[in-house]
Amino acid sequence: MSDTCRERIVTIDGPAGVGKSTISRRVSTSLSFTYLDTGAMYRAVGLKLKEAGVDLADAGAVRDCLDAISLKLLPARAGNDDVGVLLDGRDVSQEIRSPEMSMIASTVSALPAVREKLTLMQQEIGMAGQIVAEGRDTGTVVFPGAAWKFYLDAAPRIRMQRRAEQLRSQGKLVNEDELLTMIVKRDHDDQSRSIAPLCKAVDAVVIDTGLLSIDEVTEALLSRIQ
Ligand code: DC
Repeated sequence: MSDTCRERIVTIDGPAGVGKSTISRRVSTSLSFTYLDTGAMYRAVGLKLKEAGVDLADAGAVRDCLDAISLKLLPARAGNDDVGVLLDGRDVSQEIRSPEMSMIASTVSALPAVREKLTLMQQEIGMAGQIVAEGRDTGTVVFPGAAWKFYLDAAPRIRMQRRAEQLRSQGKLVNEDELLTMIVKRDHDDQSRSIAPLCKAVDAVVIDTGLLSIDEVTEALLSRIQ
């Protein structure tokens, strides 16, 4: 990766509910970079495999299903919305954001065929440069040469409370104990899978978002990049 390209890629990794999406959206807007939500891609692939009823233990069947996939990221409709996804031409932006789809995305993200396919797609998107990539392995595996790498972290209970507020603001009922159990399980699964587990790149700047406001975290990232 050339120096010019390195300078044009920002990676923001970390566990679920740490504020990555909000921060990534703000940083990308400030820099006029494209926001690449890699989690949305794992969610869409999870939905595809689930709907196709593919046996996840059958690597050939998983590959065949992914060969036929069409995946397009859509810009967020409003400033605070998540990015959208067109899966095989169908808008699945809402469907992929449920707690159930979070768990399915985490499960399918451990499959080698899924990681190979999505890592390549993400690297192709990144070739044009000027992106803020958000996920679990963007600084370690997808863009190891990126110049600006961040790892956001916060205690599980704080992350659960943030996610609960977000779900409530969408009119959803929340069971906090269940949500905390899901977050802890997803952390464990994402960190312990054998390929591209969630972990901090050695050259990433670590920021504990539990003690800071969104504005403060955004400022901390931008001040390092600029
Ligand atoms: O960021 P998110 O909650 O939308 O991600 C959903 C799941 O997708 C997450 O639990 C693990 C997986 N994922 C991944 O394995 N690698 C990424 N770069 C992004 C997400």
